[in-house]
Amino acid sequence: MMHEGCHIKLAQLLVCLVCTLQVVSGLVTEEHAARAQELLRENLHATLAHWHGLRANGGQKLTMQNFFRTANKHMHHPAVSFWGIKNNKVFQLNKDGELRNSSNAMIAEGRPNRGAAETMKSSLWLAIEDAASHGVSMPDMVFIYNVADDPMCGLRLDCSDGKFAPPISLMGLDPSAVPQPPPPRKPRLFPDILVPIFKNLGYSRQTTVSLAQHHQNVLNRVGGSPLAWSERNRIRAESVPWQDKVPQMFFRGTRYCPTVPLRDKSRSICPRVHLTNLSIHHQEQLNIMITGLPPPYLQELKDHNWQARRTDVMAEWSKFKYVASIDGIGGSNRVLALFHLGSVVVKQHKSPYIEWFYNSIKPGVHFETVFKEGPDGTKHFDDAVDLVDKLRTDDAYAKHLADNGLGFARNYLTLEVLLVYLRELLLAYKDLFEDMDEYISRLGDTGSSALFMKQAQLWDTDWRTVAAS
Ligand SMILES: *[C@@H]1O[C@H](CO)[C@@H](O)[C@H](O)[C@H]1NC(C)=O
Ligand SMILES: *[C@@H]1O[C@H](CO)[C@@H](O)[C@H](O)[C@H]1NC(C)=O
Repeated sequence: MMHEGCHIKLAQLLVCLVCTLQVVSGLVTEEHAARAQELLRENLHATLAHWHGLRANGGQKLTMQNFFRTANKHMHHPAVSFWGIKNNKVFQLNKDGELRNSSNAMIAEGRPNRGAAETMKSSLWLAIEDAASHGVSMPDMVFIYNVADDPMCGLRLDCSDGKFAPPISLMGLDPSAVPQPPPPRKPRLFPDILVPIFKNLGYSRQTTVSLAQHHQNVLNRVGGSPLAWSERNRIRAESVPWQDKVPQMFFRGTRYCPTVPLRDKSRSICPRVHLTNLSIHHQEQLNIMITGLPPPYLQELKDHNWQARRTDVMAEWSKFKYVASIDGIGGSNRVLALFHLGSVVVKQHKSPYIEWFYNSIKPGVHFETVFKEGPDGTKHFDDAVDLVDKLRTDDAYAKHLADNGLGFARNYLTLEVLLVYLRELLLAYKDLFEDMDEYISRLGDTGSSALFMKQAQLWDTDWRTVAAS
């Protein structure tokens, strides 16, 4: 049933595109939409099946009462916000009773922190409002947006029985990676709806992979010469030919370590710290450095005369042949950008963290891995050195991985494909609810935070009967 709904809406989108089709770059075409469908099939449909499965017996969809119940429980979590879209404009219903109707006001508020407000919240906000200019219109709806580095379901929210509404989140978790309760207790599942991250598509003050310059709203927030800045912060795979790339594994980042308790205790090393120390001892193969390295390692740094330079501009990372994504607090959500560099992407073998498109990329095809496991399941935390040696020896294999990664990025990890994916995701989310359309039709253009608060406080009272004070 879900499939049919999606296809009808997609068909309508395409008809509308065909009649307005012009030679405008950035306009979504049938081909973009088809690619988005592939990604949706491989990544989103299994999660949606979980939520559809909850009504398999009762046959009931979720209602806005479930939504308000979830809002009531999470109203005060700094990383959770309640967003609405009406006529392709975004608004945020705030717990202080005020409404945010501009992404700048939302950034100024700085929740959960300035960085996340800027990269994770404002980038999605701008992408939604910009979609129409690419020929994609977003549904009128409300949703729960979780910008924490981990999912809500299975950690802070019980998503196993349909009492609560699903959160839209940045980062998922692999259920096999966390401790599971013994049967007959229910397994911990993490069916958060994973949303494309737009921060590297020109909608934040971070590196863009897009051919277009950064969004005007972002340029307005950059001092000095915004256009020169935008050029400097654009990844161009062609900028360094393969044979000129330095054959080292490169990583720069902050000293973040995973916070979720993992099943495999041996994983409780901090991957970024461990690999930095490994790099200190293998400077020929590895070029890995983090800020905030703790004291014992600082001594190692001195003893081994390791003078790693900071390289802040991600666009320049393409000069390295192998670029790593190493888990921080959660996943590092830089994989999308790394694939555009034209270098070999290196991920952690069986990283427990999952982003929205990870089901579509395969080790040995699109990327290589470190921390591989032996036959007895023990992890090799020092295998990054061997991997570099192997890739140096088999340069054709390395180039094959880099080309596949870049090909995938240019076909699938583009603004046009992400916008269609987002639209379909939002339509599917809305379709989980019986009465969201009715609710939305009673909202003004930006909704009312005060009424929303009241409805969330009285979540077991029919929302239609709750009046603003
Ligand atoms: C947007 O927010 C501002 C400031 O909070 C307010 O003055 C304005 O009326 C709001 N606009 C709409 C359309 O609600
Ligand atoms: C860094 O790595 C070296 C070599 O493997 C090891 O001997 C040393 O104990 C490590 N340093 C710290 C502070 O763990």
